[in-house]
Amino acid sequence: MRPDGIVIAIDGPAGVGKSTVGKLVAARVGYRFISTGKMYRALAWQALETGVSLEDDAALDGLARALRWAFPKGAGPEADISLNGRVLALELSEESVSRASSAIARLAGVRLFMKDMQRQAGLSGGVVMEGRDIGTNVFPDAELKVYLDASPEARARRRVGQLKGQGMPADYAEILDFIIKRDAQDSGRAVNPLRKADDAHYLDSTELPREKVVDAIVGLFESLSVK
Ligand code: DC
Repeated sequence: MRPDGIVIAIDGPAGVGKSTVGKLVAARVGYRFISTGKMYRALAWQALETGVSLEDDAALDGLARALRWAFPKGAGPEADISLNGRVLALELSEESVSRASSAIARLAGVRLFMKDMQRQAGLSGGVVMEGRDIGTNVFPDAELKVYLDASPEARARRRVGQLKGQGMPADYAEILDFIIKRDAQDSGRAVNPLRKADDAHYLDSTELPREKVVDAIVGLFESLSVK
């Protein structure tokens, strides 16, 4: 066992609710929550700020290594992410950062850097970590793995609801198209593509309300009878 508990890995495609569900699970079981997507987004944001090419693996690796990464405790179960002392928040959800993060996530050197940092962040356990390759690559030894899925249409509908709820414009067809393209990019890349680990529990949330998904994961956690 790890000193602070187990590692709960949640993987799945874009917009499936891994962060929302993961944070709720973390709050229920008293664990920390880490979004690895935000780490890719943070590096992408820094690359856009400093003009480093999104194709240049060696330059991005150098950029990542030169930065001071920290994950201070946030307001809820989710750790904040800070680069050189600056906490990044809203800037990470910008569309340009989304696209750039998906582009740099294809690169082998960037992925190796991220894997080392993510393992370091979760090694002591007591953590819910979400991403695309946590159960397959970052923590193949995670004690609980969940692959969360939902149809692209259901994910697009939820995203439209979210955006409209924030008073933002939202076009269903455009969002669906974006989700399908992101899926293809995340599952089709050569290095650590998105896929379900053989020993991951598959949860399809297309017809399942969020609370039921959270209950299911907490139930799996409790059945392991760990702290
Ligand atoms: O989950 P997200 O949308 O914040 O992730 C941003 C991008 O980073 C996404 O296009 C896929 C990539 N990513 C990845 O390749 N591996 C991870 N473990 C997490 C995210």
